[in-house]
Amino acid sequence: MKATAAAHANIALVKYWGKRDDALLLPEAGSLSVALDKLRTTTTVELGDFAADTLTLDSREENPSRARALLDAAGIRQRARIDSRNEFPTAAGLASSASGFAALAVAACAAAGLRKSAEQLSSLARLGSGSAARSVPGGWAVWEDESARQVFPPSHWDLRFCIAVCSSGPKQVGSRDGMRATRETSPYHAAWIAQCRRDLPEALRLLAARDLSGLGALAERNALRMHADALAADPPLLYWHPPTVACLHALGELRAGGIGAWGTIDAGPHVVAICASRDADRVGTRLRAIPGVVDVLLCAPAGGARLLP
Ligand code: DP6
Repeated sequence: MKATAAAHANIALVKYWGKRDDALLLPEAGSLSVALDKLRTTTTVELGDFAADTLTLDSREENPSRARALLDAAGIRQRARIDSRNEFPTAAGLASSASGFAALAVAACAAAGLRKSAEQLSSLARLGSGSAARSVPGGWAVWEDESARQVFPPSHWDLRFCIAVCSSGPKQVGSRDGMRATRETSPYHAAWIAQCRRDLPEALRLLAARDLSGLGALAERNALRMHADALAADPPLLYWHPPTVACLHALGELRAGGIGAWGTIDAGPHVVAICASRDADRVGTRLRAIPGVVDVLLCAPAGGARLLP
């Protein structure tokens, strides 16, 4: 009645920002992501006759209600003790619900002795957090409906993802609330969703062709359009800090100097730069020099969620 699983967080190049069903966490448009090797979460689930569910995240007690929704959907009635640890080399605001819920789905089903397909596990992880659906298959993953699927393995393309940690300061509005507020109040939201529907097939074509300047530019545009949508919400959602903007300018300068690097930004201040592996050190060095950037993590593509012995 006990199992441990590991999963990697993912970064989306075509973003999920809008739900067509708030209860089932179904997306309005498809998204494309890649799992990141250094952003790994390990989760242990123990099932039993405990007084209540408990969830410990990096040694802090957290509310287990989202985890319970996932367990209920899997048909797991016993109480759960969940211990989740982020093995990130920095503590600076990169905690990820995607890797956590993906690892939880795999560990909980194993602890309960349930045999589930990869598709079913992805669909369960989705009930914790939409983006977690993509961390179950890992690699390059597409999520359009109930579950996500791997479209290319991590070995498809030797890219690097330089995460510039641009944080500190008060906590942002989380993705769940930010996404809902944007859909309900942004006058640009329909245009954003229509854009994602055009971006996904184009991104898949560029990914298959390993066209870095095409895919990098598309990912940067897609992220800036997501933020344009969020900025247009009422009240506005401004996730950026000064170093976020400085990173985007630095990437533009690198490109002008012949180094291909493009940025993407989730619902927070950090910038993830996409580049070829041969350029990763130069991109990392440039981002590290920006005032307010507290750390830079170099990641490579990673695989899916798996059970640990
Ligand atoms: C900006 O998956 O965290 O990172 O489904 O409400 O839990 P919920 O949201 P979540 O949203 C991720 C938003 C994003 C874009 C992306 O990862 O596609």
